[in-house]
Amino acid sequence: ESLDATGLHVLPGAIDVHVHFREPGYTHKEDWETGTAAAAMGGTTTVFEMPNTHPPTRSIVELRQKQDAAKKAYVDYGIYGLLAEDNIAELPGLIKGGVNAFKCFMGNTFGNLPSPSTGAMLEGFEIIAPTGLRISLHAETASIMAWRQKRLMEAGRNDPLAHVAARPAVVAAEAVARAAILAEWTGARLHVLHISSGLELGPLRDAKARGVDITGGTCPCYLLLDTRDYATLGSVIRVNPPVREASDSEAIWAALKDGTVDLVETDHAPHTPEEKTKAVIWEADCGFPGVETQMPLMLNEVARGRMSVEDYVRWSAENPAKRFGLWPVKGRIAAGAHADIAVVDLARTETIRAAALHSRAKVTPFEGKDVTGIPVHTLVRGRFVQKDRTLVTEARGHGQQVTDVQRMPASAVRNADKTLAAEIARARA
Ligand code: NCD
Ligand code: ZN
Ligand code: ZN
Repeated sequence: ESLDATGLHVLPGAIDVHVHFREPGYTHKEDWETGTAAAAMGGTTTVFEMPNTHPPTRSIVELRQKQDAAKKAYVDYGIYGLLAEDNIAELPGLIKGGVNAFKCFMGNTFGNLPSPSTGAMLEGFEIIAPTGLRISLHAETASIMAWRQKRLMEAGRNDPLAHVAARPAVVAAEAVARAAILAEWTGARLHVLHISSGLELGPLRDAKARGVDITGGTCPCYLLLDTRDYATLGSVIRVNPPVREASDSEAIWAALKDGTVDLVETDHAPHTPEEKTKAVIWEADCGFPGVETQMPLMLNEVARGRMSVEDYVRWSAENPAKRFGLWPVKGRIAAGAHADIAVVDLARTETIRAAALHSRAKVTPFEGKDVTGIPVHTLVRGRFVQKDRTLVTEARGHGQQVTDVQRMPASAVRNADKTLAAEIARARA
């Protein structure tokens, strides 16, 4: 098949290390077919899918179930295994079974998975560290936000901004600092998901300076929205962690530019419009779809002069590939790399309409926004999955798990003689 790319730009397809495709368990919100179709339409060629499905991806049994569901995928994917309190014994099975990364929910969010104690987290980090697989964190401390939400509910707060009051930046920053100390002790590789505040940047910067292998990601909503948008968007804007002050956005933009924040991810979190719009703010589901709108929203910032195309490629493809062990197989256009490509029209303008999204979740905080910079073709391993703004339905099932990734060299467990496993073995000897 030939392609006339006159006037267009050829970019590496986006690698999105943070999507929720909801299958198994919540397929009224999304499934692997609709989620990866949205990715293909958005110029995203590889996604890493989160374990807060039902059942959660907690052992090799659920991993096999998820791999089965993912056979419908249009784009390539990594699969996250869960690191929780009650599945420490399952971690070796998940590793052998081929998970691409781990996810640790330090605080409550969609799926109501209980967050592990700091003790269980430390043992999990010890087990995962030698594999070199990265552990992505939902970094919000459960106990702080449970306390605050209880007190706010007692006081009768029910405005959209009450969600921000329950989860102020200190909730996230405290979690980042604590997890980074555990990573410094164990040598585990960490990724701080959905950075939403300026306050998280301090502990992230400090940990990097100490030599901790820790990376950070942020999402379009934290770059492009702020507290002024709550009045118009109401509960639709509700997301964990919350969209914050304009000064937080400014700080995150600066941190992307200076490399403290490594990448842009979407936290594609589909929920139905009914689940998003509730009279009681505490009852509205958190998150919204993002994988189809990420590239247009960010390229629109290129058009506005806020960043360069080179910045975009670094944050959307190069850094995710490098940090998640996909370099050089994916993430760059060069000999030896997959032809995972987004062909974009930097001059084309479209209006974002939830009704037109390929996600099953027809709701977005960016409804009605005009964006300039559109992926018009998407290729995964050389095959069209989107052509001329149309999904190539024959490419359903073309997506594969990224098992051919260059395995990251194992990092040592820094205090191998003091791990819980070593101490238990000592007791038995
Ligand atoms: C996510 C979801 O719905 O799965 N929701 C969200 O508000 N971000 C979970 C998460 O990433 O915290
Ligand atoms: Zn999260
Ligand atoms: Zn998420």
